[in-house]
Amino acid sequence: MKAIDNRPRRRKIVAALTVLPVLVGGALIATGSSADATTPSSSSTKLEPCDIYAQGGTPCVAAHSTTRALYAKYDGALYQVKRASDGATLNIKPIRRGGYANAAAQDAFCTGTSCVITTIFDQSGHGNELTEAPPGGFNGPAAGGYDNLADASAAPVKVHGHEVYGVYVAPGTGYRNNNTTGIATGDEAEGEYALLDGTHYNRGCCFDYGNAETDSHDDGNGTMEAIYFGNSSFWGAGKGSGPWVMADLENGLFSGVHTQQNNNDPSVHDRFLTAIVDGGPDEWSIRGGDAQTGQLDTYYHGARPEADGYDPMKKQGAIILGIGGDNSNGSAGTFYEGAMTSGYPTEATEDAVQANIASMKYTAAKVALQPGPRVFLEATGAGGDGTYAIADVDDDAVHIDAVSTSSAAATKQAAKWVETAGLADPKCVSFESVAHPGYYIRHYGFVAKVEPNDDTAQFAQDATFCPTPGNSGTGTSFQSVNYPAKYLRAYEGALYVAADGGSNAWDTATDWSVQTSWLTKKHLGN
Ligand code: AHR
Ligand code: AHR
Repeated sequence: MKAIDNRPRRRKIVAALTVLPVLVGGALIATGSSADATTPSSSSTKLEPCDIYAQGGTPCVAAHSTTRALYAKYDGALYQVKRASDGATLNIKPIRRGGYANAAAQDAFCTGTSCVITTIFDQSGHGNELTEAPPGGFNGPAAGGYDNLADASAAPVKVHGHEVYGVYVAPGTGYRNNNTTGIATGDEAEGEYALLDGTHYNRGCCFDYGNAETDSHDDGNGTMEAIYFGNSSFWGAGKGSGPWVMADLENGLFSGVHTQQNNNDPSVHDRFLTAIVDGGPDEWSIRGGDAQTGQLDTYYHGARPEADGYDPMKKQGAIILGIGGDNSNGSAGTFYEGAMTSGYPTEATEDAVQANIASMKYTAAKVALQPGPRVFLEATGAGGDGTYAIADVDDDAVHIDAVSTSSAAATKQAAKWVETAGLADPKCVSFESVAHPGYYIRHYGFVAKVEPNDDTAQFAQDATFCPTPGNSGTGTSFQSVNYPAKYLRAYEGALYVAADGGSNAWDTATDWSVQTSWLTKKHLGN
């Protein structure tokens, strides 16, 4: 294995590239262009991501998006929806050539019923459409072992203020194409980018977009090369508690050259997250950044992982979305757009693609909090007075700390929860963070965390607590629905589920009854 250093690539686009043929929806057109892919918009038409990749000499061989055209000249179908009422289908196109998706057509077609996304068309002209993933090493939940199709309206989002829809992957959902053309195989070089919702993820295997096995089975190390996003730390991890952008190279999610943790790969929480994985002979990279600011950092660039079977790679050239190579389908995430290239893109090309995504001004469609009273959860007992449960999504934790009416507005907001019907049992309650809609208090390893609802039954159980009279005789206690001996407990500045005596430090019988008793308040203070 050749050692490659970890500095950003500085390869420049050669100055001779003045007129480049660009493959647009299968048609070659000439684009007048500047010599440097960092200044793509100097031609008369604004270049879109796959125009930029083509200009950089690494054309898209697959281009998928339900939100917009990825070529300035593309006006074909972006995706197809099917409605439940009569099984009819409709192709959704951009509002105009190179524009955003005509989501109003979907809304009209799906009024009074529900729709799923059946096909995500390939805009590159290679015919690499994504459709319902077939069974493989693992069966999906739908008929015949296929995966579920995404609810077509579950991921509303805005581009330039226009409402469009992403692809909402709940566990069990997956898309695939096992019969592609033009996608890298073997050790051939490729680039992959995906624009994702960085606040929707889980630990399940494996929310991927990119190159995978053509038989939907685990064919061994190095037989896939896809972008992964989530907080699985089973194979590898980045810094902190995740979620991370990693590469799924089969039998491993890699964050760098070592098989386990690589601290250069940060936890990322951007609402709109650009995730990139590139791979070619003896080198690969992971990049990522906030698609609203246009920041893009290189988390890793260097040699193939220190493990057998990944150099040379044995890529097979299928395409997956929302699942692992062997059709593992326990993962969650949201996809807006993405593409795969032939050849290893330069960083300058990718930076220009990221600038293009930022120029689209993706913003969240307003997420509604669940119904229920807004409450503050105040701890009781000695030292508890005036301390509250506070959401900290960066730490994936719930802190217990002093909050008062004079605290910073952000702190007061982080201490506010919607006490909503229990996700696993409506007779009990769940606590949704007012500061982070869609995030709930859940326990994991009996430590309370604040995480996005990933729609799994496990999450619902871990996030449901049944109110009982306070164990100390004061206020209310919150009994874990799946571990009834355990209650929410304020212990040494953090929140846990704890039994009255047990193996974890926070199960100590000392002060258990007061530390598991809470005052649910409508206002801070008295
Ligand atoms: O590499 C991680 C996962 O391992 C792959 O996505 C899957 O094929 C296998 O289970
Ligand atoms: O918190 C205890 C258990 O830890 C949760 O039920 C599970 O999600 C995790 O394994």
